[in-house]
Amino acid sequence: MVANKFSLQFAQELDQKDPLKEFRNRFFIPQHNGQDTVYFTGNSLGLQPKKVKDYLQAELDDWAKHGVEGHFEAKKPWFSYHELLTEKAAKIVGAIPSEVVVTHSLTTNLHLLMVSFYRPTQSRYKILCEKKAFPSDQYALESQVKFHGYNPKDAIIELEPRQGEHTLNDQDILDSISKHGNEIALVMIGGVNYYTGQLFDMKSITDAGHKAGAVVGFDLAHAAGNVKLNLHDWQVDFAAWCSYKYLNSSPGGVSGMFVHENHANKPELQRFAGWWGHDKSVRFLMEPGFKPMPGAEGWQLSNAPVLGMAAHLASLDIFDEVGMDNLVKKRIQLTNYLEEIVQEISSKYSGICQFEIITPKEVERRGAQLSILVHGKGKALFDSLTKQGVIADWREPNVIRIAPVPLYNSFEDIYRFGDAMEKAIVGS
Ligand SMILES: Cc1ncc(COP(=O)(O)O)c(C=O)c1O
Repeated sequence: MVANKFSLQFAQELDQKDPLKEFRNRFFIPQHNGQDTVYFTGNSLGLQPKKVKDYLQAELDDWAKHGVEGHFEAKKPWFSYHELLTEKAAKIVGAIPSEVVVTHSLTTNLHLLMVSFYRPTQSRYKILCEKKAFPSDQYALESQVKFHGYNPKDAIIELEPRQGEHTLNDQDILDSISKHGNEIALVMIGGVNYYTGQLFDMKSITDAGHKAGAVVGFDLAHAAGNVKLNLHDWQVDFAAWCSYKYLNSSPGGVSGMFVHENHANKPELQRFAGWWGHDKSVRFLMEPGFKPMPGAEGWQLSNAPVLGMAAHLASLDIFDEVGMDNLVKKRIQLTNYLEEIVQEISSKYSGICQFEIITPKEVERRGAQLSILVHGKGKALFDSLTKQGVIADWREPNVIRIAPVPLYNSFEDIYRFGDAMEKAIVGS
């Protein structure tokens, strides 16, 4: 490696001092040639907590034992299984429990929330979002706009980075909200951009959106379990997130939904309804006439997918034990260390290739992820990393996304990444 600070010994010393080091043992680390991989894609699919099997097995056993009676007879009755997740999920996003429900999947939840919170009028019908939002969000926004009879080209305003920059300027976002103020019905942005790793100032965006008379919602797929969130205090109107990235809760796992208490107890709000959102005290009377549950639970459609929720509960129990504050502390140290290594390698090999980290440098403007634009080397470099047991993510053109996750990644992982990167540069 390139300097003393970037030695195996130095990284291992950091690991020794890490108060969260034991948590790595709670997860299965994928293997490569008999060794732990350097798994840096927890921003895509989080690793499996070893206890997930037990949580799933308990529900499989109760299903075998009780059949349909498990809805009420299971040790954790399925009728109310989702309620076991609420408080723990609420802590992660900074909400009061009644504002949160875990249900459905992410894009589904975004649509359901927009049914209630994108209520365009003739003069105020536009949606302000980030350019290059995750494609599913782009499709969801376009289809919502069309559903209301508007043309996406006119009704969707996309925030773009300044010429020559990769990330959005925070002031530009606020200026754009106020410039388009009287025509925007909804501001909907990702809390952390999936491509650049930019963390947005959600409080200021919410304040600006409200000042302009718009509703403000966030897709927190890359933010939940990664950065500190205070959705309630920030007065965010609504949000949704998935549980399978930083929240480690199985591929395609259940999603979380937040509806601020300012709105959550208004039965008159338009929504698409299903029986699980209906008043639970009379749900099984099976009578007509939808009466929504108070709080975010009133946006549920279907009965709880218990197996997915069991996996989520296994992970939420770990989050509850560690706490977001401790995770954030370690996350900052890991990502800063990674940044230093990348910069060191970049200057050492500047004659061959240069790394440009497009993720913001400021700690308060990023989470775990660094997105590195590789100049002078292409996919071969990434493929060489993969062959050496580094699991990262490649996006066109020439961007490697890496996310050291504080629950299970170590400083040694970062050292090994740097070492593999040097070999890849020289050998590819
Ligand atoms: C920011 C963002 N939004 C939406 C989605 C889509 O999620 P789902 O397929 O669970 O609906 C993803 C998936 O990775 C994402 O990263």
